[in-house]
Amino acid sequence: MKEKMNALKVEIEEKLGSVTTKKEVIDLKNNYLSKKGPISELSGMMRELSNEEKREFGKSLNELKTEVNRLIQEKLTYYEEEELNKKLASEQIDITLPATKIPVGAPNILEHIVEEVEEVFMSMGYDVVDGPEVEEDKYNFELLNIPKGHPARDAQDTFYIEDENILLRSQTSPVQARTMLAAGGNKPIRMICPGKTYRRDADDATHSHQFMQIEGLLVDKNISLSDLKGTFDVIAKKLFGEDIETRFRPSYYQFTEPSVETDISCFACKGHGCSLCKNTGWITVSGAGMVHPNVLKNCGYDPKEWTGFAFGFGAERLAMLKYGIHDIRTFYQTDLRESSVFDRKEV
Ligand code: DAH
Repeated sequence: MKEKMNALKVEIEEKLGSVTTKKEVIDLKNNYLSKKGPISELSGMMRELSNEEKREFGKSLNELKTEVNRLIQEKLTYYEEEELNKKLASEQIDITLPATKIPVGAPNILEHIVEEVEEVFMSMGYDVVDGPEVEEDKYNFELLNIPKGHPARDAQDTFYIEDENILLRSQTSPVQARTMLAAGGNKPIRMICPGKTYRRDADDATHSHQFMQIEGLLVDKNISLSDLKGTFDVIAKKLFGEDIETRFRPSYYQFTEPSVETDISCFACKGHGCSLCKNTGWITVSGAGMVHPNVLKNCGYDPKEWTGFAFGFGAERLAMLKYGIHDIRTFYQTDLRESSVFDRKEV
């Protein structure tokens, strides 16, 4: 029996020495250490031995069992470690590899220009306010000195909703009325309101049924046209460059008196004449004027005590001039290469 045991030990050692995978070790374990395996078989044979022999053989058999267990465990540990190392090696991050380029968005050009204008005005103490796009006739026209049936309404081909009192605002000027009414007629006001506006225009390179205006209003005591001129001068220089000159031309709006068109000297040709300024050396950028006394009165301000100026920029026009864009539809299409500030250069 002793010989059988020694032979078994040699056999197991040999087999363990030639295994190449974890699975083979596990198979070996199942084979030799199971209840029906050769070691159990040997212990079964102990019944035939004397007590003395039983004690001695039992001890050796236990030692064999322990040893075989140890050897198998050693091999198992070896293969498990190898497996783990392989896994770790395959999951290693090579920090020297070039990073995957993540595509980033870019702001829409209109939004960009509006933010630029907002920043300039905020630096001069103006608030940025908001107003509804679905507006009442009262704010869009009547309080602004454009009564029902007045021919001045024809200039703004308006989208009416349901009846003649609710409309899509055709200008951002109603926010002037709303702001004055909310202020209660006894506080100075400095505000701009950028926002969407709508007119029943057929879309082409220079018209869009939806466009954006930036309205401005300043109300205080002793405000004159020269304050408007000074303010416009600062804004124009900040937006288009320090060497820009400005001028006013007489114009007509129902809600301002006097009314002006504000021009800047052409930044592309420096006033010499080019296609951008149609050879005049000047570019019109906004309508403006002194708030009409009727408008002040309609909105709760006493025109004997208070005066103010107002202006309205077309945001698309500003962006088109600044970035050399020739078609207003560019802002409302989905081609991001065109409508974002990505790759855009100022003129
Ligand atoms: N609302 C005018 C328009 O849509 C633009 C404008 C002109 C606004 C003069 C003003 C202003 O506030 O004073 O054509």
